[in-house]
Amino acid sequence: MTDLSVKIGTETLRNPVILAAGTCGVMGEIKDAIDLSQIGAITTKSITLHPRIGNEPHRVADLPMGMLNAIGLANEGIDSFMEHQAPKATSLDTTVIGSVAGESIDEYVNVASAMSTCEDIRLIELNVSCPNTDDGLEFGASPALLKELVEAVVGSCGRPIIVKLSAAPGDITEHATAAIDAGATALTLINTIPALAIDVHTRKTKISRGIGGFSGEGIHPIAVRVVNTIYQHVCKERNIPIIGTGGVTHWEDAAEFILAGATGVGIGTASFINPTISTQISKQLKAWVQKQGKPVESLVGAVE
Ligand SMILES: Cc1cc2nc3c(=O)[nH]c(=O)nc-3n(C[C@H](O)[C@H](O)[C@H](O)COP(=O)(O)O)c2cc1C
Repeated sequence: MTDLSVKIGTETLRNPVILAAGTCGVMGEIKDAIDLSQIGAITTKSITLHPRIGNEPHRVADLPMGMLNAIGLANEGIDSFMEHQAPKATSLDTTVIGSVAGESIDEYVNVASAMSTCEDIRLIELNVSCPNTDDGLEFGASPALLKELVEAVVGSCGRPIIVKLSAAPGDITEHATAAIDAGATALTLINTIPALAIDVHTRKTKISRGIGGFSGEGIHPIAVRVVNTIYQHVCKERNIPIIGTGGVTHWEDAAEFILAGATGVGIGTASFINPTISTQISKQLKAWVQKQGKPVESLVGAVE
């Protein structure tokens, strides 16, 4: 039997494939298209304290090699989420990761604490690509602010905490170290990359907000570089799992992330093109692991 199971803190996922936040519904609505028992975990949409309408349309644009989005964290808010979405977690045949966003440390603490009262939300992921209302700086942009945020959430929430970082600051070694020093169980690398696209006929930006987040195939080599750098310099020694996310479109991309140092593999944009891609990749990854003749965990970081 090929062992594809991986551990993220105290949780064992049946395989490394994880559906990324904001790309598989609020609470796994993608289950209508795929068999969730074939994948390791799903991540919820990022939830904030209060409901958010999000940005004006157009909020997404198709680009060569990926997509640009500025959804603006549209979500129903934690109260409605706990009443209407959290109870659905029980019926999902996979591990559920709750994604949390906010504009203040208190907001993150309150949302994460509420989510962790749901027995079937096993892990909490902090989306730190959100501006702090105090100074407008993204939580993930400053190692000091990030440490304060993660410490506060870890101290008040009874679930392992995953911190999802952006590659935008360039070298994120200090950011990753700060998150782990503050008690993070795992890191998700990476979020979308800030980008701009212009329609040359209308001379307008392709999405209403102008700058948005670029995701999909085009960001994969960047994400592999970030995963490998953080694995080598931060996570390997401290045995902290990484969920490699960014542009996974084929099984080879998932295998590449594992060899670079990822324990889990996130899939986002590719599910919009083909909703069943994650289950296909799980099967193909299994065949690859079988061929390597080792448990998947011993292939983590095995690039030569
Ligand atoms: C339409 C869309 C919505 C997203 N919403 C969220 C979100 O709510 N929270 C979050 O942490 N990341 C969000 N992301 C980022 C993805 O989870 C993922 O990190 C990123 O898209 C890179 O992976 P990919 O190239 O496989 O899509 C979103 C991405 C897209 C394309």
